[in-house]
Amino acid sequence: MTTKEKVLTLLKSKQAVLSGEKIAQQLNVSRTAIWKAIKELEKSGYRFEHTKNGYRYLPTDILQAAELTQALPMMKTIHVTAASASTMKEAKMAAFSDQLKTPALYLTETQTGGYGRFNRPFFSPKGQGIYMSLLLQPKRLFSELPQYTLLAAVAVAQAIDDLTGKTTEIKWVNDIYIAGKKICGILSEATSDVETGQITTIVIGIGLNFSTPQDQFPAELQEKATSIFPDGQPNITRSQLIEKIWQHFFDLLEALPAMDYLKIYREKSLVLGRTVHFTRQGISYDGIATAVTNLGELVVKTPKNEEMVLSSGEISLDSY
Ligand code: BTN
Repeated sequence: MTTKEKVLTLLKSKQAVLSGEKIAQQLNVSRTAIWKAIKELEKSGYRFEHTKNGYRYLPTDILQAAELTQALPMMKTIHVTAASASTMKEAKMAAFSDQLKTPALYLTETQTGGYGRFNRPFFSPKGQGIYMSLLLQPKRLFSELPQYTLLAAVAVAQAIDDLTGKTTEIKWVNDIYIAGKKICGILSEATSDVETGQITTIVIGIGLNFSTPQDQFPAELQEKATSIFPDGQPNITRSQLIEKIWQHFFDLLEALPAMDYLKIYREKSLVLGRTVHFTRQGISYDGIATAVTNLGELVVKTPKNEEMVLSSGEISLDSY
């Protein structure tokens, strides 16, 4: 850890005023080094109360690799950037490195080319959202892997419920909704080894609208999307939510082979028991969504009492 990171960690953990001298002694550096570290931290957006007795940490919402690394010991690599074309691309590029340690998490404050399913652009305004991709190297057959996308959706939904008291719902396959509007989308991309048939990398991308004020969404998203804090006044930090998401994610993974995540996924489903619309090979269908299978497929009963099993694609509901 750099002196700057050590100063931050110390002041953050104490939540009290600490004199420059005391910090310097504790970290075994000069008082000038502490003063410099504080200045640098303030330059990158951190805030400290300056009193005659020293410095006190004031909460800020900055994504910091060192802080996240401490809270998420299961991550072997955490990489934070101020801006990125897309964290999916970053993660996929990183997968080529022999030295890379996984699980690896890529986060950014804003994306210039963020994308979602069907290559749709993902709105990624600076500092108002969570844009991150987790890279895993499972080296197992696809059939041996859990449904990572569903598992991630459950982890996100649980984390939001825990920290905000708001109620999330999951729209098959991977969208999280609050009060009828989308607040989060999840995208998984995988590569496999043709010779062994094993999945070599999985990248799970999560895009979450955190504190974007409602009137700042583009016109075409106004009716469909919202953020967790649409008044722009969050009472938690993005880091807290990120930490909670991955804690839930790895807890659910650890609970395997128990299908806990599928049980929660079904309980939080926005679509089960409702009429859904979808298109298959150019033909439009309606039906009641009756089940989510253990493979994450959606079972739909048509008016002719036929059961259709959807494994991918998109569905719509009357009011969403
Ligand atoms: C969807 O809604 O279709 C999925 C959206 C996924 C967006 C996230 S943001 C972080 C990561 N980087 C990207 O370019 N996409 C994913």
